[in-house]
Amino acid sequence: MQHPRRSLLVLAAAAAACVSALAADTGAPKLAQKSSYKVGFAQSENNNPWRIAETKSMQEVAAKCGWQLVVTDAGGSAAKQVADVDSMIAQKVDLIVLPPREEKPLIPAVMKAKKAGIPVILVDRNVDQKVAKAGRDYVTFIGSDFVDQGRRAAEWLVKASGGKATIIELEGTTGSSPANDRKKGFDAVIAKNAGMKIVASQSGDFARDKGRQIAQSLLQAHPGATAIYAHNDEMAIGAITALEAAGKKAGKDVLVVSIDGTKDALTAITQGKMGATVQSSPFFGPVTCKTAQRYAKGESIPPWVKVEDKFYDTSNAQANMADGY
Ligand code: AHR
Repeated sequence: MQHPRRSLLVLAAAAAACVSALAADTGAPKLAQKSSYKVGFAQSENNNPWRIAETKSMQEVAAKCGWQLVVTDAGGSAAKQVADVDSMIAQKVDLIVLPPREEKPLIPAVMKAKKAGIPVILVDRNVDQKVAKAGRDYVTFIGSDFVDQGRRAAEWLVKASGGKATIIELEGTTGSSPANDRKKGFDAVIAKNAGMKIVASQSGDFARDKGRQIAQSLLQAHPGATAIYAHNDEMAIGAITALEAAGKKAGKDVLVVSIDGTKDALTAITQGKMGATVQSSPFFGPVTCKTAQRYAKGESIPPWVKVEDKFYDTSNAQANMADGY
């Protein structure tokens, strides 16, 4: 058995090592002030209007911001997105702009960039806040309040249904921050309304055809459903196709509400097939450029640069069609 005094000394040494490691952690890497930067944008996938608009927004701002932009497409794989960040680190980019596909798997990539002295700005999606922190591990998170988006969709549904609905929920990508938070916000409001019940909730991976397939099987299992809440417009459009195939009138027999504000969703609202959509802006280029410039100047950046979102229903969808993408 170890002598008690020796154990104490070992503990004290370990504590000192921890303190000095913390003291040595000077936070997220800095960004030098230069006239041009090599910037990596590691897109998670480019297979839907939202992602395409986000990538385009980055590409459009690049020249104005003095960025030589390296864009990768992880094709819907978190592992590939990690590898893409790895290759940006190897190319010694000045800055990495990252929409992490899922909350946990991308944390090692953020940490590796930090170790390499390359600042990371998270856009649109976040990482697990219990493990990685803005200001310490990455510069900031620029994005919407996904919990609030879910809450706003639910509040519309409570009103439109008169507080009585049997709901099917189509969730986004499992383990992603928008899927987790949009569910949290929506389910919390529904739980407070005795006449409203979520009878099924399943992931459609934010994809139109997956949304259609899941909606089809959930409608078969729950023929009495009166509402569908989709975590994004692509799945909502897929659900409308499933409803029509089942001989139901979308927007009448079954209310449909979702999130994003794509052109197809705004059109579906004007056609009466969808009730409402909460905007989730994909236009991150200008705000990311501005934030990076402020960071390079040494200004302090808040941990969350919040993006404000609009709301579209029958009262304003047609007038705001130009917002769609
Ligand atoms: O992270 C934002 C979400 O990702 C959008 O709502 C969705 O359409 C996209 O794939």
